[in-house]
Amino acid sequence: MNQEEGRTGWTRNLGDRKMQTVIIVPGTPGTGKTTFAKALAKTIRANYVNITRHVSKHRLYRGVDRERRTRIIDVPKTRASLKRELGTMHGLSVVDTHIPEEIIPREIVKQVFVLRCHPRILEGRLRRRRWKASKIRENVLAEVVDSCLSAGVKYFGWRRVIQIDTSRRNTRGCVASAKMSILGEPTKRIKIDWISKLEREGLLDRYLK
Ligand SMILES: Nc1ncnc2c1ncn2[C@@H]1O[C@H](COP(=O)(O)OP(=O)(O)OP(=O)(O)O)[C@@H](O)[C@H]1O
Ligand SMILES: [Mg+2]
Repeated sequence: MNQEEGRTGWTRNLGDRKMQTVIIVPGTPGTGKTTFAKALAKTIRANYVNITRHVSKHRLYRGVDRERRTRIIDVPKTRASLKRELGTMHGLSVVDTHIPEEIIPREIVKQVFVLRCHPRILEGRLRRRRWKASKIRENVLAEVVDSCLSAGVKYFGWRRVIQIDTSRRNTRGCVASAKMSILGEPTKRIKIDWISKLEREGLLDRYLK
């Protein structure tokens, strides 16, 4: 059985149409995008596109953010370059990025898996990276207020968006549920409300004060 014969659901006609189809994995830094996207690409035999490597290889920077000590991506150039690169690939590609709405053309995206993580667990993951407290706070707060989810739904539309909670399941479990959705199996959409959960756990002040 070859790759195309094994496909069902919305991937079924990929071979005939010779089109590029992209799966996007957005999420707050630390939610597990790269871990998940690589594992998903391997499981469904798709191309994995590493944005950091792409930007670095083609030198798509416009300057340096001294405060954050990072290089600033040239968004229009990155968008054009990725459109070209993704256009040359056949079959499925998986791309992880926390700013898909800025750098990925909406029309080539088939499905969006927004990764989520309980703010307390995310804080722990970011602390282990030894990030500055202000940077951790800024990112955890973005997760608390559903920043990536809102941007994804606004840009891609809610039908294409599915949330995956990486604080409750390991990568294998997360990939298994994404694969079911790609294969067209009915997928239960989870609801995430960190504000209510944190309030119940007595942790809301920690992140919102
Ligand atoms: N499902 C999971 N369960 C437990 N830990 C996980 C899971 N997914 C990822 N992690 C862990 O979380 C950390 C962050 O993962 P990863 O680097 O993939 O996140 P990211 O979203 O790509 O971050 P960034 O945006 O900074 O690149 C890693 O230590 C990884 O091992
Ligand atoms: Mg990453």
